[in-house]
Amino acid sequence: MKMFAKERFLGVDFGTESIKAVELGVRGGKPFVSNYGEALLFSGQGKNTATRSLREEIAIRFRSLLDRMHPDTNEVCISMPSFLGLISLIDFPEMTEAELEEAVQFEARKYIPSPLEDVALSWEAVGDTHDSEKAKKTEVLLVAALNKDVHQYESYVNVVGYDMKLLELETFSIARSLAGNEPDPVLVVDIGARAANLILVENGFPKKSRSIDSGGRDITRTLAESLNISIDRADEMKKSGKDFLNAKDIAIIFPPVETIVSEAKRMIVSWEEKRPSRTVKKLILSGGTGRLAGLVEYTSKKVGVPVVIGNPFEGVSVPSELDAQIDQLGASFSAAIGLALYGIRSAEKK
Ligand SMILES: Nc1ncnc2c1ncn2[C@@H]1O[C@H](COP(=O)(O)OP(=O)(O)OP(=O)(O)O)[C@@H](O)[C@H]1O
Ligand SMILES: [Mg+2]
Repeated sequence: MKMFAKERFLGVDFGTESIKAVELGVRGGKPFVSNYGEALLFSGQGKNTATRSLREEIAIRFRSLLDRMHPDTNEVCISMPSFLGLISLIDFPEMTEAELEEAVQFEARKYIPSPLEDVALSWEAVGDTHDSEKAKKTEVLLVAALNKDVHQYESYVNVVGYDMKLLELETFSIARSLAGNEPDPVLVVDIGARAANLILVENGFPKKSRSIDSGGRDITRTLAESLNISIDRADEMKKSGKDFLNAKDIAIIFPPVETIVSEAKRMIVSWEEKRPSRTVKKLILSGGTGRLAGLVEYTSKKVGVPVVIGNPFEGVSVPSELDAQIDQLGASFSAAIGLALYGIRSAEKK
């Protein structure tokens, strides 16, 4: 389709620590950032000093973020946290589309612990594989989330009077912005405030994913306990750029980092055991905690693959006045960018 110069695409990531929003336009066939914003939900350790519930807080902060940004569109693509969903990759023998539909519904019961009527279910055929007898199989990615959680996120959009173009698990948004064009399998490790998402992406699809309850807050807590300092001071030190992970004199063991890194290693080993010809070439760090000083070096030493900090703005132009700020924000905006990119791609398909 012809993309209109004024058309805008809005992506919003509802994170634990903050809501992040990006608005993209398209110029000369290339996306550019026309607007962005972030609304902090809570201070560092998730302390809620207000008397409002988390849901009320999110709704209020979302509205004021939009008031500040004044987006040039009223359509929005949003994500919900990975830990609210379930993603399974299932192999089916080759069959027709209609047979597959039926087979997926039947199989879904085995993978989903809740009654299917309580669940929003979607699936997509993402590739073909061959088993040891060389029989052709269709790989299906099954995604499920509880209706009540889906409705909750829909309601954030409804109350501000916007139209929801897409609601997806952040796993998909992050995979799209950081590994959408990777020719080889890569492992994306997004570490936020509360949780870490490990996403093995092949051909742009998250083929395996895990969500772990370890994140930046736990790292701050470890630092505070190890150095016997306050949480606020530890949070400051964590972001100061000092490398506590690799330093010879004061290296501290961070159990949350150990958990994430050993799970990353385990996922790569288990993937490569099944697909020896499709080795994982790279580990991409994302999320605010992806910027933790020394994490690139530490992870590559422990996991044994090259590690980089993902840049969701690669392939997206950034106006020069935003350049420096975006450099700081980069890694934590990967889900928001991935959502806005979805808007662009679906408009291009029309
Ligand atoms: N320079 C830095 N070094 C280390 N940690 C940082 C840095 N900047 C931010 N963080 C940490 O990143 C975390 C916030 O990351 P992010 O914005 O990705 O989280 P979120 O998306 O809101 O949370 P979640 O994904 O867990 O729901 C916080 O714990 C913050 O302390
Ligand atoms: Mg996040």
